[in-house]
Amino acid sequence: MPQQLFKFKFAKTKPTAAVSGRTASQDKELILSDSVFRELRDEIYKLCGIYYTESKKYLLEGRISKRITYRKMNSYEEYLNYIKSPGSRQEINSLFEVITINETYFFRAEQQFEAFVNILLPEILRSKPTRAPTTFRIWSAASSTGEEAYTLAMIVLQRLKPKYPHINFQILASDINNAVLETARKGVYKEYAVRNVPPEYMAKYFTQSGNTYILSNEVKRLVKFMKVNLYDPIEMKAFTNCNVIFCCNVLIYFDIPSKQQVVAHLYNALQKNGYLFIGYSESLHGISKAFKLIHLPKAMAYKKE
Ligand SMILES: C[S@@+](CC[C@H](N)C(=O)[O-])C[C@H]1O[C@@H](n2cnc3c(N)ncnc32)[C@H](O)[C@@H]1O
Repeated sequence: MPQQLFKFKFAKTKPTAAVSGRTASQDKELILSDSVFRELRDEIYKLCGIYYTESKKYLLEGRISKRITYRKMNSYEEYLNYIKSPGSRQEINSLFEVITINETYFFRAEQQFEAFVNILLPEILRSKPTRAPTTFRIWSAASSTGEEAYTLAMIVLQRLKPKYPHINFQILASDINNAVLETARKGVYKEYAVRNVPPEYMAKYFTQSGNTYILSNEVKRLVKFMKVNLYDPIEMKAFTNCNVIFCCNVLIYFDIPSKQQVVAHLYNALQKNGYLFIGYSESLHGISKAFKLIHLPKAMAYKKE
């Protein structure tokens, strides 16, 4: 059975450069015309599937102006030409850092985690032949700063390992945004991120230092972070054999064709009988017929049959 998913060497990411101040002489007014907006929007769409509608023009304008300032450029058009030119990979990564929304927190999708632990995991394990050592692969795709993946890691330590000592649980977490991955690897969070963490998990897996909460190494060790663009067919080919994928609260940023493309990639990344979770406000209706929708107590999952 191919084991590509965890064969990766995890590339070191460069620290994100801070946005530099714009000097008075550079401080000309930047104006995003409708035609340049459409070209920029289409370029971003081609790169990552995120689709900015006309009504979101002002958002894109504000976000890209930071990059123009940092690059000391004079117009949106100059920036557009730059990202279309060969050798702009580093800037494209920085662009991803300003155009993505990274909202997340620990234990965000509680009902999904409960359904996973109580129903889906035992079902998947029952379909495995023996109690011989088995690897169980969980992927937090679009993990942002890591809260979802680390929630799963704490659940593995607290509830799954004692019950299934023979299982080797592997957790992969990925995002397109290098800056959030860097934060995730540090494992240091503010009050806002941990507000939903149950007290026993808080006591066991975090240390408070002033107004920050430091995650224990025991939890951090269980998760591998890497940069992955879910929209990129070449990058996504490398991911196979997952038992469960959490890809929550990212499809909302795509249009229908890019949702279809990403969901097809996730389908290919799952093992037969594996499950996909998406955000509570998201649906695969009109996106994919390949999955079977499974109704669980207070949650839904999509099964690859
Ligand atoms: C709102 S966060 C969701 C975090 C977490 N899954 C949750 O539900 O709490 C959405 C994440 O999707 C990432 N994202 C957006 N487009 C992406 C793409 N094409 N490939 C991978 N990640 C992407 C963003 O960088 C962002 O961190």
